[in-house]
Amino acid sequence: MVTAIIGGQWGDEGKGKMVDYYCQNADIVVRVQGGANAGHTVVVGDKKYILHLIPSGILNPKTICIIGQGVVIDPATLLEEIALLKSLGIKLDGRLLISNRAHLVMPYHKMLDQLKEKSADGTSAKIGTTGRGIGPTYMDKVARNGIRVVDLLKPEQIKKKIEENLNFVNKVLGGIYNSPTLEAKTIVDDYLKYDKEMDPYITDTGAYLNQALREKKTIIIEGAQGALLDIDIGTYPYVTASNTTAGGCATGSGIGPTKIDTVVSIVKAYTTRVGEGPFPTELPVKEGNTLREKGQEFGATTGRPRRCGWFDAELVKFACESSGVDELIITKLDVLDDLAKLKICTGYSFEGKTLKYFPADLDILSGVTPIYEELSGWQANTTGAKQFSDLPVNARAYLKRLEEVVGVPIKLVSVGPERTQTIVK
Ligand code: GDP
Ligand code: IMO
Ligand code: MG
Repeated sequence: MVTAIIGGQWGDEGKGKMVDYYCQNADIVVRVQGGANAGHTVVVGDKKYILHLIPSGILNPKTICIIGQGVVIDPATLLEEIALLKSLGIKLDGRLLISNRAHLVMPYHKMLDQLKEKSADGTSAKIGTTGRGIGPTYMDKVARNGIRVVDLLKPEQIKKKIEENLNFVNKVLGGIYNSPTLEAKTIVDDYLKYDKEMDPYITDTGAYLNQALREKKTIIIEGAQGALLDIDIGTYPYVTASNTTAGGCATGSGIGPTKIDTVVSIVKAYTTRVGEGPFPTELPVKEGNTLREKGQEFGATTGRPRRCGWFDAELVKFACESSGVDELIITKLDVLDDLAKLKICTGYSFEGKTLKYFPADLDILSGVTPIYEELSGWQANTTGAKQFSDLPVNARAYLKRLEEVVGVPIKLVSVGPERTQTIVK
């Protein structure tokens, strides 16, 4: 049984929390794309964990955690994360598997990402990336210059590849960005050291997952980022560099798409976005601040304040269609507890006409007027609700309307960051 759990907006929907919840009853969890740009928060009891590369099932001692072939791995960040978890008494040996096909984030990828963003400051070319080297690593992957985990096992090969890549990269660093250049030897030495520590975890994770399928294991796929950050369907160029939609779950894991039984999309009860790019239902700073403070909307990776706005059903519907979503999970309902009135965007109008499709042209998306429906709030605390019937009538009405306009049934509702603050509908 394979369930893919993906983000249905612009990331930070609560994937970490929900993947941990599902993993209480799962044999295996696999991250499939992205890298340390992800920040997935898991809260169990009074402990909070923020995971960047290690799957969010790691706190469930029986769940095997896989970093799949579609992920780009920054070994320095990964080893820090491993050390931190071990220091907290979490056992990883035999439970963490790293794909030998995954690509490695190199120090020059992070430098190129940050330098490009800095040089674009104040222009429309600035994406507002996390600076984790994600774009440049996927660029090298697609350009066929990438260095994979499997290369770590051959010291001569990795040395040759790093030297070859630096021939070009140093010209860009020095010539275009006027930045210090890099020494191949230092990087080779560092990566061979990383290899020693990563070695016990490296394997063919695609083969492992396909064997697990034959053994009828329960597998959770953990998406990163969100649908509208997808390189193909997202608000390009203000997107990440991978397929964050359901398609990426197959290529990034090595499991065929027909083996994925259920696709679950997680969406917040409102909308947030970090970084640049259009956001039709964004609230003005003051109103947005109310949601930001209550929802603690600050990036788990970069600490940046997240932009906040009303629930955009037009966007979520588009995201669901692009991934063939079967079920929705609504998170952070509790953040709306104090509001007297709520708005849901049910469509966009542009130059006096209602749009039929989610626009590809960002000039149009930036210029649309959201068509809103207003609903009454519930002004009651939902954080202690244990079952659907515990929720106030107006909260249930709000959820029902979300379900109707998006056209996908809600399976779970989250009313707080803790694992147990989850309601099965
Ligand atoms: P992810 O990237 O999708 O895993 O989400 P993040 O961890 O970046 O951001 C979600 C934030 O919301 C985290 O701080 C979670 O602990 C928190 N969170 C998740 N679900 C809920 C919820 O239902 N209510 C509240 N108040 N916080 C939640
Ligand atoms: P999780 O998995 C929210 C955003 C960045 C930027 C754009 C490109 O925690 O939901 P990148 O560094 O990927 O090249 O940045 O994508 N972004 C995220 N926003 N949550 C994330 O991950 C994100 N990962 C990338 O802010 O706008
Ligand atoms: Mg996050």
